[in-house]
Amino acid sequence: MTPDEQKQAAADAALDHIEDGMLLGLGTGSTAARFVDGLGRKISAGLNVLCVPTSKATETQASQLGIPLTTLAETPELDLTVDGADELDDKLSLIKGGGGALLREKIVATSSKRMIVIADASKHVETLGRFPLPVEVIPFGHGSTRLKIKAASSACGCQGDIVLRMRDGEPFVTDNANLIYDCHFGRIEDAGTLAQVLSSIAGVADHGLFIRTADLALIGRPGGLQTIKVDKWHE
Ligand code: A5P
Repeated sequence: MTPDEQKQAAADAALDHIEDGMLLGLGTGSTAARFVDGLGRKISAGLNVLCVPTSKATETQASQLGIPLTTLAETPELDLTVDGADELDDKLSLIKGGGGALLREKIVATSSKRMIVIADASKHVETLGRFPLPVEVIPFGHGSTRLKIKAASSACGCQGDIVLRMRDGEPFVTDNANLIYDCHFGRIEDAGTLAQVLSSIAGVADHGLFIRTADLALIGRPGGLQTIKVDKWHE
């Protein structure tokens, strides 16, 4: 299978986990978009679900497909979120946020009883960190926040360039009107500790480390589909 076929296979496999009446979180990115497309087809065929999108882009896609949408304000607890990832390891710790939607993705995923990650084989790594870790920050004082991120991550053994994300020559602005610093750490030996440390910094809205959030990964590989299942509460 090509990488695109791997994404499609993972998205198709996730559709098998959807049951009538479910409250769903819809992820963001090219893999999640394939799942949303498939969900739209199932809804046209009679499936009844209610969904919360994790970004304006997914909201637009889902609306165009006629997928019934709600908000966490109206529906604060969901059954399942299906989303992609930029990296995942064997414990299903994730790096997310390559598309800039990490904050809403994390709020939605952690408001769901379960999270299924769908990905192509290139996303499955032994140690997180080759993909630059996105950290979403409040614009006010973001230069100072960057220095705090640098000091705190360095104390966790993570060093590397911490770069303000740009788009078309301007700082990239998230759906929440925040900015993103991409942290080029290379390897993150203790993702759990780094996640806690980053969360405690004033000015950090959230970061792309998802720890004990996903319980199932469906990974498309050249030779077929790989499934990784974890008990997120007892790892
Ligand atoms: C969006 O902010 C991200 O978390 C995406 O889920 C992640 O970047 C994966 O995207 P792809 O499926 O396009 O690789």
